[in-house]
Amino acid sequence: MTECSFIFTALIDLLRALAEPTRCRLLALLSHGELTVGEIAEVLGQSQPRISRHLKLLSDVAALERFREEQRIYYRLTTGTEAAALVLQMLSRLDAADPVLIADLKQLAIVRDQRVRSVSAQWADIRRCAEYTYSDDQLIKEILSALFGKNDADSLGELLDIGTGSGSMLSVLGKRAKHAVGLDVSTHALRLARARVHGAGLNHCVFKRGDMYDLPFDVASFDSVSFDHVLSIADKPGQALVEAERILRKNGRVIVVEDTNRLTELGTEKPQALIRYWFERAGLRCDKMKSIPAGNKTLLVGVATRQ
Ligand SMILES: C[S@@+](CC[C@H](N)C(=O)[O-])C[C@H]1O[C@@H](n2cnc3c(N)ncnc32)[C@H](O)[C@@H]1O
Repeated sequence: MTECSFIFTALIDLLRALAEPTRCRLLALLSHGELTVGEIAEVLGQSQPRISRHLKLLSDVAALERFREEQRIYYRLTTGTEAAALVLQMLSRLDAADPVLIADLKQLAIVRDQRVRSVSAQWADIRRCAEYTYSDDQLIKEILSALFGKNDADSLGELLDIGTGSGSMLSVLGKRAKHAVGLDVSTHALRLARARVHGAGLNHCVFKRGDMYDLPFDVASFDSVSFDHVLSIADKPGQALVEAERILRKNGRVIVVEDTNRLTELGTEKPQALIRYWFERAGLRCDKMKSIPAGNKTLLVGVATRQ
């Protein structure tokens, strides 16, 4: 078989896999974020074995990728391949006003809402993370202005949000990133973050389970890293920053947001100096440090650069 006929066969296989109503709906649904088989079955109102069969066919032609998080298997659209490009092209031709697609999206919003409620009700630690959610527009504006000044076009490139919790920092910074990953050790946190961040339409954000002291990424694979209310609860904040520095590209940025009260509880009287010290120990150059009043607390926003 020549190389050319192999490409032809692969294309026909892909087109065959796409040319089926449920599979088209399934791809349209997954363009709104990562979902489990159970969630997809619930949204589409079909049995799990049936959905699994469709998912397998789409995975076989590389239109989808699957990954495991503890006992749950998630699916998402593949990115960066020929198959991915063709799927995106097909999805862009679908009429967003189609009643079937609209009904699927409504059902997806209901399933995500249930997920947020059940994870928040069950897991007190995750609920505590959600308390930091930036629901105050003025506060968000001030954080963005502390980070970017007046430069509206400044992009974070590929962003990694470490200890993403409920995904609140991705909700704030996601729009500024070309692609973003939310990382957390807790699968419950990731379930919540997916529901909230994808539910907010930030579908270019993906989620991954991992440890901030041993990041599952290669050297120099991100342009920006954020730690939002994470370093002050970390046993080894300095080591977490050293690991962040490893996966940052040259001139990449580390963004740290912390509550000064929590830093003071760590025994420091100079919270800004503590963050500067953590940066310095990790070989990062501190570029900005700003205090922002946030209700009954003060947030510190620090930015450092990998040289
Ligand atoms: C206080 S919450 C902050 C969450 C989120 N950044 C926010 O501000 O809403 C801390 C998060 O760090 C995560 N975390 C703790 N240790 C971690 C580790 N070693 N690696 C990755 N994430 C970790 C926790 O699961 C939790 O979701």
